[in-house]
Amino acid sequence: MCGISGYIGKNNATKILVENLEKLEYRGYDSSGLCLYKNKDFKVIKSLGSISKLKEKVKNIDEDFAIGIGHTRWATHGKPSQKNAHPHLSNNKKIAVVHNGIIENYKQLKNQLICENFFFNSDTDTEVISNLLEKYFRTNFIETINIVLNKLKGSFALAILNKDEDKIYFAKNKSPLYIGIGKDEVQLTSDISTFFGKLESYIILEDGEFGSVSSKNIEIFDKNMRKINKKPIKLEKEYKNTCLLNEKYYMSKEINEIPNVLKNELISLNNLKNKIDKNLFLNINSIEIIACGTAYHAGLMGSYFIEKNCRIPCHVFIASEFKYSNPILSKNNLYVFISQSGETADTISCAELVKNFGCKTLAFTNVEHCTLNNIVDFVIPICAGKEVAVASTKAFTCQVFAMLFFSHILANDYDEFYINNKDVIDNFYIENLLGNFYTEILKFNKIFFVGRQGDYYSCSEASLKLKEITYINCMAISAGELKHGSLALIDGSTLVIVICTNGLIKEKINSNIEEILARGGKVALFTIFEKEDFCDVDYYFKLKNYNDEFNLISSIIPFQQLAFYVSLEKGYNPDKPRNLAKSVTVE
Ligand code: M6R
Repeated sequence: MCGISGYIGKNNATKILVENLEKLEYRGYDSSGLCLYKNKDFKVIKSLGSISKLKEKVKNIDEDFAIGIGHTRWATHGKPSQKNAHPHLSNNKKIAVVHNGIIENYKQLKNQLICENFFFNSDTDTEVISNLLEKYFRTNFIETINIVLNKLKGSFALAILNKDEDKIYFAKNKSPLYIGIGKDEVQLTSDISTFFGKLESYIILEDGEFGSVSSKNIEIFDKNMRKINKKPIKLEKEYKNTCLLNEKYYMSKEINEIPNVLKNELISLNNLKNKIDKNLFLNINSIEIIACGTAYHAGLMGSYFIEKNCRIPCHVFIASEFKYSNPILSKNNLYVFISQSGETADTISCAELVKNFGCKTLAFTNVEHCTLNNIVDFVIPICAGKEVAVASTKAFTCQVFAMLFFSHILANDYDEFYINNKDVIDNFYIENLLGNFYTEILKFNKIFFVGRQGDYYSCSEASLKLKEITYINCMAISAGELKHGSLALIDGSTLVIVICTNGLIKEKINSNIEEILARGGKVALFTIFEKEDFCDVDYYFKLKNYNDEFNLISSIIPFQQLAFYVSLEKGYNPDKPRNLAKSVTVE
């Protein structure tokens, strides 16, 4: 994870870098830092915590800088601390580096450097890069970088300052990096959205590329040290401001946006339906869905829709498991990748693996300019609009809806799907069913989410949401599995939240509730059915009944709200949960 930014130009580098880091903060907010350059000298400012702290510190800088690099960190090697914050300088303090990624062989490199009397001020993997650049220093610094890159294993987007030159050097491997070009200025970034509204064009860097930017010149080399020319692409997209307006938190804003984003999504999916390349799913044996976290849960829901509506076998994999499971790949399968950001390293590496094998690939993403979109054969945009809060809410809803759409495209009954959902979506609004339930749940030591089939997938997502932003230890259990082990955990201090939107398994769910109550557990039931259809539960919440499929999309919202309110009740910032980042760009 982490976000990097570089600036060189006529404007105030400090201000621009801080603004850019604020936009990159979703990539990590453990600490941040800048290295500003002037007259062969560096000024380094580091700060623990969010960018607002860095912003406070730079207020005291009264001189102007035209060149600088910046970083916002999500800790991988070494705790969040001032010493581990980037930039990291070489021992001779002549080279400064900011890095997004992981240097997998850093320990070995560090030990070698220590044997050669280099010392280390941080616990990071990044510091080996600055010291290697010092060790292999050549007057032609591009040569130095080439030597060092050949020694690194892992992923990196790097911005580098060398005290001898008015330039920013860069390198990219498996972490995103873009060059932005404006009038009298050049920038580097981990995310192209920092360029919108500011710069005129941009260059997408590919793995293995490295080079330098100065105010007059951009030089890019491939991994064989051959100079390459890349034509800048015009930045056409307007920068859409994602300010909070009247809301205090992005998470509640994003939950409240769900009805509108679904409306937009239906319009754009309707426009897309005839453009989908039918060859992708002609004569396929199975569909293999690969994703992480919330997107994985959307994949589970998608597989439920695909198997139900199309009777095509569908399997869902956690990306970090798939790649290293020696997967049996087949050109007769369709491989589907789901990712809000399109930058998740685990998902991307699976997409690369599958693509290199020559398989058909499809992605569901929320970001137009993302790495995943450049790998796959076809992209279905989920159209959720920018999602800022770390906990995914509206993107999940849109991912599931897009999967539902896709299942009906495959099933050749799109028109029916459209008719069934158009009115539902037009009239869909968000209710607050919860009352003070969010304070009730704080009375329990253990919380389980229990459901069957599609409801079980909602349980998995509800549980992830609650643990992610409230730090409550909870888990999702398939209702039928309770009696195979987890029932042993049920006692008076256990709250079991049951979701039931499926009439076919209502009686079975009722039996499971009886089993929980018989062991002293407390039950909160969220269902589209009447209270009288079930035994007496401790808390009953009536979900609105739309249609069987849309119920699986709408029923997650109360749990997104629940997680949000519990997080606030516990005094946390729901937008920025501890230890996490929005975009997970390391494996
Ligand atoms: O950008 P992606 O959809 O690929 O991200 C995958 C997960 O990291 C993400 O869904 C994560 O689980 C969310 N923070 C959960 O709310």
